[in-house]
Amino acid sequence: MTPHPHIIRLDNVDSTNTYLSGIASNSPHGTCVLADRQSAGRGQRGNTWESEPGKNLTFSVLLRPDGLHASQQFRISQAVSLAITDTLDGFLPEGIEAKVKWPNDIYVGNRKICGILIENTLCGAAIQHSIAGIGLNINQRDFLSDAPNPVSLYQLTGKDTCINDILEGILSRILQPFTDHDTLHHRYMSSLWRGDGQYYPYSTPDGNIFQARITSVAPTGHITLSPRPPARPLTFAFKEVSAIL
Ligand code: BTN
Repeated sequence: MTPHPHIIRLDNVDSTNTYLSGIASNSPHGTCVLADRQSAGRGQRGNTWESEPGKNLTFSVLLRPDGLHASQQFRISQAVSLAITDTLDGFLPEGIEAKVKWPNDIYVGNRKICGILIENTLCGAAIQHSIAGIGLNINQRDFLSDAPNPVSLYQLTGKDTCINDILEGILSRILQPFTDHDTLHHRYMSSLWRGDGQYYPYSTPDGNIFQARITSVAPTGHITLSPRPPARPLTFAFKEVSAIL
């Protein structure tokens, strides 16, 4: 695989997303900031992202998606998620698959192997640039933080994996031009964690717990769940519903 041209490697940084956002206006599409250690790695919902220094991938990629409208930003999430699942599948043991937990966590079984934090900058109704921050657990043996269900590639395979090989796999996939929307969406739906038509428990922030199956994910990223016992399908935006493990 050809080495990626624009990688900035840092020993130590607060957050690769924050660093990349500071240099984004003068940086080309595909610029990647990679750090061994983040002192203030950021996660979704204002959480922090913890990662043992030197053991995992913590990096951010600058994307300049040509002519993508703000209403289409979920496509970036879909393309980045699939780049990661496709790459991981080449490193996981036969029969074990990486899946996308809506909207864009990467799970193996019921455990989270990778978190993604996408931060878009808009110019009017167009996406000027997007920073895709990726934290992927590779060679970490144990997780000491209170993250509920982390897993690493090492824990799944019993062996260390070359971090750079995985980085190259993800970057080469992310930087391919996006496939047409129907193909991207179809691939995303086929890779969906708990997308097998079975019923699973969910909760809403107001404490409502219910069983439902995923019926669709809209191009906007909204998910529709069909509850059991049968009732009107429910549509949620990100943060409005959580899967119960
Ligand atoms: C999540 O909460 O699931 C998203 C985690 C994203 C973490 C990555 S690590 C590299 C990049 N820099 C950050 O500060 N966060 C993202």
